[in-house]
Amino acid sequence: MTVQYPSTSAVQPHALITPPSGGPRPRLTFLGTGYLGATHAICMAELGYEVLGVDVDESKIGKLADGQVPFHEPGLDELLRRNLSTGRLHFTTDYKEAAEFGDVHFICVGTPQRPDGMAADLSYVEAAVTALAPHLHRKALVVGKSTVPVGTADWVAQLVARNAPPGSEVEVAWSPEFLREGFAVEDVIRPDRLVFGVKSEWARSMLYATYKGVFELAAAEDREVPVVVTDFATAELVKVAANAFLATKISFINAMAEVCEAAGADVTLLAKAIGYDARIGKAFLRAGVGFGGGCLPKDIRAFQARAQELGVGEALRFLHEVDLINQRRRARVLHLAAELLGRPFGPAGPDLAGTRIAVLGATFKPNSDDVRDSPALAVTKALHKTGATVTVYDPQGTDNARRELPTVTYVSSLNEAVRDADLVCVLTEWEEFRHADPEKLGELVSARRVIDGRNCLDPAVWSAAGWEYRGMGRPAVGRQTAPHTSSPETA
Ligand code: UGA
Repeated sequence: MTVQYPSTSAVQPHALITPPSGGPRPRLTFLGTGYLGATHAICMAELGYEVLGVDVDESKIGKLADGQVPFHEPGLDELLRRNLSTGRLHFTTDYKEAAEFGDVHFICVGTPQRPDGMAADLSYVEAAVTALAPHLHRKALVVGKSTVPVGTADWVAQLVARNAPPGSEVEVAWSPEFLREGFAVEDVIRPDRLVFGVKSEWARSMLYATYKGVFELAAAEDREVPVVVTDFATAELVKVAANAFLATKISFINAMAEVCEAAGADVTLLAKAIGYDARIGKAFLRAGVGFGGGCLPKDIRAFQARAQELGVGEALRFLHEVDLINQRRRARVLHLAAELLGRPFGPAGPDLAGTRIAVLGATFKPNSDDVRDSPALAVTKALHKTGATVTVYDPQGTDNARRELPTVTYVSSLNEAVRDADLVCVLTEWEEFRHADPEKLGELVSARRVIDGRNCLDPAVWSAAGWEYRGMGRPAVGRQTAPHTSSPETA
């Protein structure tokens, strides 16, 4: 096989390639029907492909086949039902069926943080590949999508070579995914770029054929989807580098929030002002309780672990700081709570026994029911530990949050959560909270005190309604406590 030097040109004419199954378009399987795989399977069916979603979890497959998305993602339920009814989309637990069906098999299984350290757990990738490969009796392309440590694609290629029947000529490629929860359908159907990590012209052409529907939609809308064709290692690194950059951007602004708090400045205005510089950009400069979710936190840790293995740990040492800044923002809420409630903050944290705290938000971000490594839930847990009575309301995440943290009270409305509260903490910026009426809420609480952990409320409006307001990296508004700053001369 000739190895082509990767081309980095944008959209190229799609090679006219016949998929191994002989149809006009490749038939696609998605191995793993979690967030990544299920969303992709459904969206690619929507783009006209014949698709099979595969998972070892029978209940998940049963739900999907029945038209129920097992997680919350705006717009996805409707697309699932529509594509099940077209007959283009099916689900199975049978890897043999998947192997017989597919031309292109996408690996979409989870790569969580290992319990014994910072590295990624690749056991699900191994399980999926070794379950599929023995059944691959004809040529096929196995494409990695899961976020993995650099070097995984080569290892997957070896696993395939060892486990596939002799002569089946299965190839491997890597095409990382950049979808965001809450915008996942849009991100799959209208991606801002595609990355193809390939080792052969055939693999490259198959990927172009696989994404033809995405290119056609873009052309119809007078857009282009840039494609960066790379080697395996670069494709793998692109994904973790992107997430590391995003995490760094958030921690940068949160570090500025810490400085603003000490200096009496406002980080939201600072972010606005620096964001006008096109080199900096305004996106991902929202200071608050920090980043969470199933991706950024574990990805920056796995990236550091892999860099250490490669002997370049120092290059990513800053990511350790990024993680620490992120954790400190969670702790900041406890300091603000103690300050607002007039309680001392001892070495073991504040004693908030006897107080009632309403927590608004449990998910790691709005428009999701995901509570994995959620800053909101971590803060809730810490508030509960102070002895406070904590009542939580989240528009979508209650079931998942209750499983993760069963010891606090969950209620099903905003009004119920804040009734008789001594303090309200907004920890996820759901629209419902942004637009809550501080006057009406003020009539329900026992004292008008609010911590805006996502800087999503208007301090002027809330203070006009009589609330003591504390944001993240912003000056206190409402009744003031002792100043916590020192002048540059006396510092
Ligand atoms: C992230 C990336 O944005 C996606 O590109 C990537 O594909 C995905 O991880 C993944 O690896 O699968 P996601 O985890 O859905 O997507 O969430 P983000 O929108 O990136 O938000 C992550 C966290 O950062 C949230 O907790 C959010 O509240 C927080 N955040 C975000 C801030 O605190 N400030 C900001 O300015 C932006």
